[in-house]
Amino acid sequence: MNNIPKEYRINNVIRHKEFLINGEIDEWNGKMADVFSTLLCDSNEKEPMLLGTTPLMSKNLALKALNSASKAFKQGQGLWPTMKVYERINCMEKFVNMMVLKRDEVVKLLMWEIGKNLNDSQKEFDRTVDYIKDTIEEYKIIDRKGANFQNSSGVRALIRRGPLGVVLCLGPYNYPLNETFALLIPAIIMGNTTIFKPAKHGVLLIAPLLKAFKESFPPGVVNIVFGRGRELATPIMESGKVDVLALIGHSSSAISLQDLHPQKNRLRLVLGLEAKNPGIILKDADIDLTVNECISGTLSFNGQRCTALKILYVHEDIKEEFLNKFSKKVDELKIGMPWDNTLLTPLPEPSKPSYISDLIDDATSLGAKIVNKKGGKKQKNFVFPAILYPVTDKMKVYKEEQFGPVIPIVSFNDISKPIDHMASSNYGQQVSIFGKDASVLAPIIDSLVNLVCRVNLNSSCQRGPDIYPFTGRKDSAVSTLSVHDALRSFSIRTFVASKDNELNKSILRDIIDSKKSSFIRTDYYL
Ligand code: G3H
Repeated sequence: MNNIPKEYRINNVIRHKEFLINGEIDEWNGKMADVFSTLLCDSNEKEPMLLGTTPLMSKNLALKALNSASKAFKQGQGLWPTMKVYERINCMEKFVNMMVLKRDEVVKLLMWEIGKNLNDSQKEFDRTVDYIKDTIEEYKIIDRKGANFQNSSGVRALIRRGPLGVVLCLGPYNYPLNETFALLIPAIIMGNTTIFKPAKHGVLLIAPLLKAFKESFPPGVVNIVFGRGRELATPIMESGKVDVLALIGHSSSAISLQDLHPQKNRLRLVLGLEAKNPGIILKDADIDLTVNECISGTLSFNGQRCTALKILYVHEDIKEEFLNKFSKKVDELKIGMPWDNTLLTPLPEPSKPSYISDLIDDATSLGAKIVNKKGGKKQKNFVFPAILYPVTDKMKVYKEEQFGPVIPIVSFNDISKPIDHMASSNYGQQVSIFGKDASVLAPIIDSLVNLVCRVNLNSSCQRGPDIYPFTGRKDSAVSTLSVHDALRSFSIRTFVASKDNELNKSILRDIIDSKKSSFIRTDYYL
């Protein structure tokens, strides 16, 4: 501990017992789960280090959280779904103002729980705060657009977006704050009520925010439970009372959860799932630029991003030059602790290093070589990134989403090779294409846009900026997220229609003048 900067030390084990149900923060006194950090793994330190404990809540409490959310939604008649837009916005503003006060605590726990480096942990927090603020502004725009009547074929209509119901929110461990909140915040602000269970890693960092949720929203709007997904999410889904499953994670979890719902047509899905985004490097690519983009694309946060470049296709003509420069640059990367701000940090999943070794062994046994000198070297839960070449479709790393520091490389002569692979892949999130000749790039881009949902030209894949649509084809996503699209994904268009006659006009005028309806109004929030 002594070599850790003072402000990032954890001096005592964090015994977190609290949960939030029906507007009350209660303490759990049953079984607890240990939260280990995989950071202190050098030979002088005890390993693994116990960081804290969190509740392993029971099925009964999961159902209590569900009932609290259902009661607060009350089939759309509850206080929250019928509240005026500006009142919901006021609650969200209060929340974000309280949340920013917890920045240091949350950032420190992001580093300890998932090993994300300091810069990226701070970025994750700040990006989430910006996301909330942008969501508030976007909601005002949507509300403003809904504040006028249309008249067509003698039918007058006021069309707005209304909430869907009870939302179960489950986020991923690689962005335990940002991606979970990218689901939770739009769901809440649109008038839904929610049950939220933190990811498998990155749990303690939610604890400092419990009070802000409790104090900002009416009882039952946000319910936060801790424990195993199987124990908590299973009874919640089996109840049939969940209207939206909002999950960022693996498609296998999404499928098992959907299967538990007894009335599938009632269940809406907002899912961000796995991907195998390729980088395609054409023969005229600017090699230095491409190497730099491929480093951040394959290895930021050790490759543990759904948007990471997970396979590289390099044209035969530049293969040697690219492999030399790329492996030299990868070998120069530093490994360190999150507060050292190195690109490479320990992996938070205890089983990940052996999985990465398995992928490497499988590929090398089938003819691939580790191209870089340091590739695959392990020290406890650090794994130095391994560049594998030549990779073929017989190898596991060709198909599996490695979500870690291993970089498979395939060479090609004909562009149909990577394109055919993408067409036959189960995934369709993004691609990066590197090259200079516009006449070559144009037809390739035209093919790629129909295989994925974002084509990155001479740049690595990424989700941001958050105003752009984030989605995918096939098994990579269901529905679209972005500041604007998420508000649509968590709501439905609903409207009041009336024959255009004097009686209806005068009723509508009276309702508007009296300001008695939250829905029928033509004013808006600036
Ligand atoms: O894990 C998947 C994330 O959506 C990736 O987001 O591109 O901002 O790292 P990012």
